Amino acid sequence: MRIGVLTGGGDCPGLNAVIRAVVRKGEVSFGDVVLGFADGWRGAIEDRVIPLDVERCRGILPRGGTILGTSRTNPFRVEGGEEAVLATIKAEAVDAVIAVGGEDTLGVAHRLAGAGLPVVGVPKTIDNDLSGTEVTFGFHTAVQIATDAIDRLHTTAESHDRVIVCEVMGRHAGWIATYAGIAGGAAEIVVPEEPFDIDVICDSLTRRHHKGRFASIVVVAEGAKPKEGTLVVRSGEVDQFGHERLGGIGSVLAQEIERRTGFESRVTILGHIQRGGTPTAFDRVLATRFGVAAVEAVHDGAFDQMVALQGGEIVRVPLGEAVAPKFIDPALLHDVGELFFS
Ligand code: F6P
Repeated sequence: MRIGVLTGGGDCPGLNAVIRAVVRKGEVSFGDVVLGFADGWRGAIEDRVIPLDVERCRGILPRGGTILGTSRTNPFRVEGGEEAVLATIKAEAVDAVIAVGGEDTLGVAHRLAGAGLPVVGVPKTIDNDLSGTEVTFGFHTAVQIATDAIDRLHTTAESHDRVIVCEVMGRHAGWIATYAGIAGGAAEIVVPEEPFDIDVICDSLTRRHHKGRFASIVVVAEGAKPKEGTLVVRSGEVDQFGHERLGGIGSVLAQEIERRTGFESRVTILGHIQRGGTPTAFDRVLATRFGVAAVEAVHDGAFDQMVALQGGEIVRVPLGEAVAPKFIDPALLHDVGELFFS
C-alpha cells in the first residue's frame, strides 16, 4: 500500500517516534511505501510530499518536534481545501492517510473520512484533552518539564518569601496543571474546568502564609478563566480553528495576588518549553505503539477510527467520538486538594 502520514496542530514530543514507527511497521512488515505530507493538512492541500523510509527515519526517535513540519491549517477554512486534499491523495496514489494530531487535525480527518478519505487517527497533544484515550503522547513529557520547573521555582520562592505563579499550557482542560501541580506540591492549582475566584485564592494564600510559610507556588492553566464579574482579562487573536491565542492569565493572577495580599509575587510562563525537546521514555513507547497500531488499522481497513490507549491496551475508537474534549475529574483536584493544599 501507499500510506501518507501527516502531523498537524501544535508540535509535541513523540511525533517523530510515531513517524518512525509508521515507516518501520509499514515498510518492514507489509512492504508499504510511506510518504509524508509537509506541514499538516497544508501539505495535503498543496501536494507537498516528503519521501520516507527506514534510512530517512534513523536517529529521529528521541528528537522533539516533527520532521514533517506542522501547521494549524484547516482545509475547510481554505477555499477548495477539501477538494484539494482529495485530489492530492489521488495524484499521489495514496491508499490511506494516517493523521497525527489533536482535536482540530483529527476533527478534519473525521470530516474528510465522511467525504471518502480512508484515514486513521493517532492522538497527539501535550494537553491530554482528547476523549477515547486515557492518555495522549506528549502529556507525560510536558508534565515532567512543568514539574521540574516547579521544583526550581520552589527554591527561589522560598529564598525570597515570594508567591510564584507558574502558567502552563492547557486550553480547555487542566491536565498539565493538575498533574504537575500535585507532583510539584503547588499551593493552588487553577484550571479551565472551574472558573476561579481571585478572592478565594488570595484568602487561601493568606491563611497559608499566616501559618508561618512564606512561599507559595500557584500553578495556572493558560485557559483558566475568572468567575464572571470577578476580574477583567483581555482576549487575543484567533486561528483558523477559531481558537484564541492564550498566554497571560498567569501575569494577571500574579499582579492581583500581590495587589490584594501584599505578598511579593512573580510569574513564570513555561510556554513552548513544555512542547519542545526530547520525549520521555513513556511517550516514546506510547508513540511507537500508536504508530504500529495505526498501520495495522490501515491494513484492516479500520478507517475513520483513532488508535487509543485504554487499560494499558491499544484499541480503536471512532474518530467522531474521540475528538470530544476530555476534562479533569474534579474529584482528583478536590480530594488531593483537601489533603495537600494547606
Ligand atoms: O498543543 C496545544 C497547545 O499546547 C495549547 O495548550 C496551546 O494553547 C497551544 O498549543 C499553543 O500553541 P501555538 O502557540 O503553537 O499556537
